[in-house]
Amino acid sequence: MACESEKWVLMVTAQTPTNIAVIKYWGKRDEDLILPINDSISVTLDPEHLCTTTTVAVSPSFDQDRMWLNGKEFSLSGGRYQRCLKEIRSRASGFEDEKKGVKITEKDWENLHVHISSYNNFPTAAGLASSAAGFACLVFSLAKLMNVKEDHGRLSAIARQGSGSACRSLYGGFAKWIMGKNDDGSDSMAVQLADEKHWDDLVIVIAVVSSRQKETSSTSGMRESVETSKLIHHRAKEVVPKRIVEMEEAIKNRDFESFAHLSCADSNQFHAVCMDTCPPIFYMNDTSHRIISCVEKWNRSEASPQVAYTFDAGPNAVLIARNRKAAALLLQRLLFHFPPRSDADLKSYVIGDKSILQDVGVQDMKDVDALPAPPEIKDNIAAQKYKGDVSYFICTRPGRGPVLLSDESQALLNPKTGLPK
Ligand code: DP6
Repeated sequence: MACESEKWVLMVTAQTPTNIAVIKYWGKRDEDLILPINDSISVTLDPEHLCTTTTVAVSPSFDQDRMWLNGKEFSLSGGRYQRCLKEIRSRASGFEDEKKGVKITEKDWENLHVHISSYNNFPTAAGLASSAAGFACLVFSLAKLMNVKEDHGRLSAIARQGSGSACRSLYGGFAKWIMGKNDDGSDSMAVQLADEKHWDDLVIVIAVVSSRQKETSSTSGMRESVETSKLIHHRAKEVVPKRIVEMEEAIKNRDFESFAHLSCADSNQFHAVCMDTCPPIFYMNDTSHRIISCVEKWNRSEASPQVAYTFDAGPNAVLIARNRKAAALLLQRLLFHFPPRSDADLKSYVIGDKSILQDVGVQDMKDVDALPAPPEIKDNIAAQKYKGDVSYFICTRPGRGPVLLSDESQALLNPKTGLPK
């Protein structure tokens, strides 16, 4: 290894997307290894709007492993971080950069410390699967830094040990987490079903729902479900295996009607399992329920579904529209029922791919106030407005998997000191 006086810092920066499950993972058969009781399928969200960027650095001058999240130092002592670090270190291989005077042998990695800095381009508190993007990015960037020669499948099995849903963020487009059979978890990993170009008509609108309530974490929620719900076991054994086959088929054939039926039914069953847990867990709130009614009513008034909805362990709605036209009609309905607070500005109420606002035909708050009630609404109660119940909307689409960012200006650590910029 390079001697202690050498102050080189070796760095890698990567960007990894988040994902939303359309067939949900809920329930573990092994808590330590994070092995699920059923397969799951997800859509990867465009990293331009929702992603984690992570810089990892190694240097003989670092005296301990350290991590910063959104600029604040964060303890790495948790078992899940330790496991990911250990798994990656054990697969590291030698690296040499003569120009920089860096020579690291396979054995050296055990003694070299790392600095990790991570940043989410969306509010961590919004409850948008930040742990999935976070652990996927940590594992992906460390694997590149430590010259790990494993494929994405093997890396996904390591990310899985950080947070189950993270294994699906190793791929763009659509991914399936295969639950596996082995007790050691070696066959529990994600595979890609289709890349992001396969079904690029889809448009995704996320309603970040205002909530004051502290939610039960996914980890403890699913533990309680496994211990107390009968429905979860029926779901894992009888319902999900069939849905997985049907969902794969729907994705392969770009069959939106089946895709929407399956996504909505699976989200609803996941929340039914939460209700069947003792004591019951409520992730959705009144606003979530109103969004479901709005979508269901509209879908029923059309010849075939226009939008699919899915909700994770929180009240936010993820709405997948069959195409741009459907997304504009959806946003029109959402803005009608859930206008921003009077003092809000439309530009910060609809974020991400704002170009969709042009298709909706609204430019400012005056236009929002003038939106007509959707034609499928026949009575005054159903035409009610809930000002301020949605914090904001994010317009996005299916996106690509992890990438390395080679431009040093995008690194989150200073290349000389290895400390946050
Ligand atoms: C509802 O992956 O956050 O989002 O494995 O304990 O870290 P841990 O749980 P996590 O659970 C995600 C649950 C879900 C459904 C899904 O993403 O499939």
